[in-house]
Amino acid sequence: PAHRAARGTDATVLVASNRGPVSYSLGDDGGLTSRRGGGGLVSGLSAIGSGADSLWVCSALGEGDREAVRRGVGEPGVLMLDIDEETHAAAYNGIANSVLWFVHHLLYQTPLEPVFDAEFRRQWEAYERYNRAFARALADRAAPGAAVLVQDYHLALVPGLLRDLRSDLRIGHFSHTPWAPVDYFRLLPDDIAAQLLRGLLGADRTCFLTRRWADAFGECAVRVLGPDALAGTRIGVHGLGADAEFLRERSHRPDVTERMAALREQIGPGRRAIVRVDRTELSKNIVRGLLAYRHLLRTRPEWRERVVHVAFAYPSRQDLAVYRDYTAEVARVAEAVNEEFATPGWTPVVLHVQDDFARSLAAYRLADVALVNPIRDGMNLVAKEIPVVSDAGCALVLSREAGAHEELGEYAITVNPYDVTGTADALHTALTLPEKDRTRRTEALARAATALPPARWFLDQLEALRA
Ligand code: F6P
Repeated sequence: PAHRAARGTDATVLVASNRGPVSYSLGDDGGLTSRRGGGGLVSGLSAIGSGADSLWVCSALGEGDREAVRRGVGEPGVLMLDIDEETHAAAYNGIANSVLWFVHHLLYQTPLEPVFDAEFRRQWEAYERYNRAFARALADRAAPGAAVLVQDYHLALVPGLLRDLRSDLRIGHFSHTPWAPVDYFRLLPDDIAAQLLRGLLGADRTCFLTRRWADAFGECAVRVLGPDALAGTRIGVHGLGADAEFLRERSHRPDVTERMAALREQIGPGRRAIVRVDRTELSKNIVRGLLAYRHLLRTRPEWRERVVHVAFAYPSRQDLAVYRDYTAEVARVAEAVNEEFATPGWTPVVLHVQDDFARSLAAYRLADVALVNPIRDGMNLVAKEIPVVSDAGCALVLSREAGAHEELGEYAITVNPYDVTGTADALHTALTLPEKDRTRRTEALARAATALPPARWFLDQLEALRA
C-alpha cells in the first residue's frame, strides 16, 4: 500500500473513521485472520502518493479487533483504538445508529419517538468520550500542520475537540449521510444540536456528498447558532463516484462468472431480473420495494413468470432490535409475495441475505432493472456501480431522495420512495424500455457515475484542505 507506517508524531495525513480499512476475526484455535474492507474510502486513501506518511485511526470493533490490539498485531499505517466496549456500544448503537442516523434519514415515527431521556444523556456522555479518544489519538500522532480527514456522524465532535488540542492542524470533516432539514434536526435537544454543529464547525472544511446536504447543514448552523455560524468554516461538496477500473476488473474474475451461472439458473431462461443490493437497513426502503413489485404482479399479470426480483439484503447493525425487526419484515414480505404468486417453475422473489461481494457483482452484470429506492441516502454507490459493470445495459429506477439522483437523475427513472404504486409503474416502464434507449441511458449513467473516482475524491479534499 502507498501509505507507510507513521511512527511517533510524524503523520502528515491522517484519516479517522469508526470502521477502519481492516478487521480481524478470532478463530477457534486462537488464530487471528485479517480482512481488508472495500469501499470508497479504502481505495481513496491508497491514492496518497508514496513518500507521504499517513495514518488511519479507527476503532476496534469486534472481539478479533480487540484481540489484535492486545497482541500488538496490526497493519502499517493503521492505528486501532481499543475504546472500552461499553463506551463504544453506547456511542455507536445508542447515539450514532439510533439517533444521528435516524435524524439525518428522517426515520423516527414521531408520535412515540424520539424520547430524549436519562438513558439518552448517558449514551451522549459515551459519545463524547468516544470522540475525545479519537481527538487525543489524532493530536498525539499528527505532525505539525498535518491534514486530518475525519469521517462521518460517528465522529461529529472530533473536529472541535481536536482544534482545541492542536490549533496548527488542517482539519476536514466529511459526512457520508444526508443532512436533516432544519425543523427535523431540531428534534434534538437544543444543547445537543448546538454541540454537534460546533463540533463539525471546528473543521476548516466541512464536506458533504451533494449540494443539497451541504445547504441543509448551512441552514441548520445559521438557525441554531446564529448568522455568523459559518464564518470560520468552508463548506465543500465532493460527490464520491464509482471506481470503474476496480469494478470492471473485479467483476470479470472467475468467482463472479461462476455466480452469474448460478443466478441465471435461479432466475430461469428468458426471464428479466429486477436487482437490488443493500445493507438491510431502514433507510433503504426494501419493504416498499417488495410491495411495489407485488403491485406490479397484481396489476400487470403479463409479467408473471416473466420476471424475477433478485433482492440481496445483507443484515447490518443487528445489535439493535429495530434493525433486527426490519430484517425480519423484509423476509416476511418476500415470503408473502412468493406465496401469492409462485408457480412450480417460478419463484418471483429470490432473497439472499449472506453478504457475498462476488455474487453482488454477478447480479450487477446481469440486471435488466436496478431498483434503488431509499427513503434518503447520502449518495448510494450501488446506483453508480451497476451501470458501470452492466453487461447488456440496465434501466435504473432511482429514488429522488438518494444523493446519487443529483448526478444520475436525468438518465434514471425517478421515483418518490414512499409511493408504492408509482414505484410499480416505474418498474414497468423500466422493464419495457426500448433496448436502444436502455443502452444509451446506461452509457450516460456510467459516465456520470465515474466522474469523480475515489482516489480523485480523496485527493481533491486533501488539496482543498491544504489550500
Ligand atoms: O452511509 C454512511 C456510512 O458510514 C457508510 O459509509 C457505511 O457504509 C455505513 O454508513 C456504516 O455502516 P456500519 O454501521 O456498518 O459501519
